[in-house]
Amino acid sequence: MSTPPATSAALDTRPTPVTLVHTRDELAAARAGAPGPVAVVMTMGALHEGHTALLRAARGQAATVLATIFVNPLQFGPAEDFERYPRTLEADLARCAEAGVDLVFAPDREQIYPYGEPEVRVDPGPLGAVLEGASRPGHFAGVLTVVLKLLQLTRSDLALFGEKDYQQLTLIRAMVRDLELPVRIVPVPTVREPDGLALSSRNRYLSPAERDAARSLPAALGAAAQVAAGGAGPAEVLAAAHAVVRDSAGMELDYLALTDPALRPLTEPVGTHAGPVVDVPPDGVARLLVAARVGATRLIDNTEIPLTRPEVN
Ligand code: PAF
Repeated sequence: MSTPPATSAALDTRPTPVTLVHTRDELAAARAGAPGPVAVVMTMGALHEGHTALLRAARGQAATVLATIFVNPLQFGPAEDFERYPRTLEADLARCAEAGVDLVFAPDREQIYPYGEPEVRVDPGPLGAVLEGASRPGHFAGVLTVVLKLLQLTRSDLALFGEKDYQQLTLIRAMVRDLELPVRIVPVPTVREPDGLALSSRNRYLSPAERDAARSLPAALGAAAQVAAGGAGPAEVLAAAHAVVRDSAGMELDYLALTDPALRPLTEPVGTHAGPVVDVPPDGVARLLVAARVGATRLIDNTEIPLTRPEVN
């Protein structure tokens, strides 16, 4: 008798079927039967490899993986790209299936804001007003409000967020800590193109020339990391990054800041003020954050920078 072909489920690499729900009632019904722990990855759609990394990390840590797809109007300013933000549901569902997502919640505006624009919003506090918050007033109140709502609606045990949006991640962690929300926040490292550009749904807006200019952002982070590795202090590290973005044609710098992990500046930032300068933390771990406009597209990036702490006599 010949050996039967291997058809075991363990060898089956086809994408699993994803359940798509649009309403909060459908979500509640699907969630009720879902085995725990449940992990959520919140997105605004236009999914790329960065989202796939989040979804795969979730798959490795939870019995049920839930993705939300909602372009949240509350976090866009009046002059921002809410209307033209890419909406690609079919492609997003295919990517979710590839990444092993069980359930996708893709609500419309009425499902999330049934009483209209919420009058009560989550106040991000002082950290919501610096860096991204200084350039995008109200942005983080909009983000935290929708994140809190989605945590309530999905009743997730863990929620994964990318380090690409480092200030957002920091504020979500602060909200979970300060409001004692029963969820574990899991950070996931930034995914980059081979040339270093951080993946972002907004990269698709860039023309080839703008795409070239955008490479200055990771180049600036790399230059800073290099001088830091040679023992440079905060001001010198920031200057090394600034030299790269300042000289980049086609790029308009918004801000550049070297901070501690809680986003307090270690030297006066370029293009913004982010509060009083503090000492390098004992472990020397710093964050370098940059935002710039390339054509009509605003891009952000950041990286961890290990600094050598000055000797204290
Ligand atoms: O990072 C994003 O895509 C959004 O800010 C989030 C967390 C999904 C809230 O709308």
